[in-house]
Amino acid sequence: MPNIPSGARGAVITGWGSALGENTVTNEDLARVLDTSNEWIIERTGILERHVGGSTASLSIESGRKALQMAGVDPTEIDALVLATTTPDRSVPATSATVQNALGLKCGAFDVNAACSGFVYAMINAHGLIAMGARKVLVIGTDTLARITDWTDRNTAVLFADGSGAVVLEASDTGSQLLGWDIDADGSAEKYLYAELGGNIKMEGKEVFRRAVRIMVDSAQKSLAAAGITAEQLTLVVPHQANIRIIQAACERLGVPMDKAALVLQHVGNTSSASIPLALVDSLDRGRVKQGDYLLLVGFGAGMTAASAVLQWGGSAS
Ligand code: UT7
Repeated sequence: MPNIPSGARGAVITGWGSALGENTVTNEDLARVLDTSNEWIIERTGILERHVGGSTASLSIESGRKALQMAGVDPTEIDALVLATTTPDRSVPATSATVQNALGLKCGAFDVNAACSGFVYAMINAHGLIAMGARKVLVIGTDTLARITDWTDRNTAVLFADGSGAVVLEASDTGSQLLGWDIDADGSAEKYLYAELGGNIKMEGKEVFRRAVRIMVDSAQKSLAAAGITAEQLTLVVPHQANIRIIQAACERLGVPMDKAALVLQHVGNTSSASIPLALVDSLDRGRVKQGDYLLLVGFGAGMTAASAVLQWGGSAS
């Protein structure tokens, strides 16, 4: 991936928010209707419960509004809305148009579909817009996977859920937060994870697992190299929340201890485009991130996409 040109205007995150589907579904709830068990789901995935409900627009509006409020930014000041989603509410128009109107934004709005890597793709896009003159960009990652999950298929029903996470990015003339980035895709692997229009998610779980670890690590290493830092310097890794075992394997290969990983999948399941921002927002709310800390966002998903970004919290001085 290209390095960020010196002198490109940077950005910092100034507000954040999240939203979850209103109904909680526990493993026990699933075990009542599927040939599965609480023990199997915990051992093989790390998930205890997930949240379902709401539309992609309604969850995005909730998380986006919280992020704007926290940043103290009036909706009319936002120059662009980038919404990462794999589950738009309609084919046309983009769900970002509905969200733009509901939040009172007066700017361009577009959806990005890069599956579970979508939020990182959206963040990188947003930094590009800021480098090109935008001053404030709202970035949201939302998915309502419950709507495209076959609830009789135990291979997928135990994993997927609904949620949203949002951040406000503001131009910074004193330092850049994004130090290195990478985006990747391999369309030849699309057969392992897909949903036809109007259909449910189909997945070859084992093959996705195998590839996931490799492409996450590969992408993360490219971003770290571009940022000029080592994995040891990271304070926090914010991985896609698909399966605790995928996160463990990726962290091990990167040489990052698990206590540096942001984890919310126990309580939210796999929310695709929302997964990384939900984990990021949780860490920020818990005060896990301090000025100057190095963060790695890293995801993988259908496509098969991968994306990563190394951020320095508050922006680097250089
Ligand atoms: O956002 C990206 C989306 N996808 C992913 O990240 C998924 C990546 N893959 C995974 O997370 C894992 O492959 C799964 C969690 C989907 C499955 O775990 P696994 O350890 O790879 O299990 P498996 O597919 O090898 O299945 C092992 C056994 C099989 O039974 P047999 O053949 O050994 O008798 C399955 O039929 O577990 C059975 N099984 C289940 N048993 C109870 C599969 N799903 C379930 C289930 N409950 N829900």
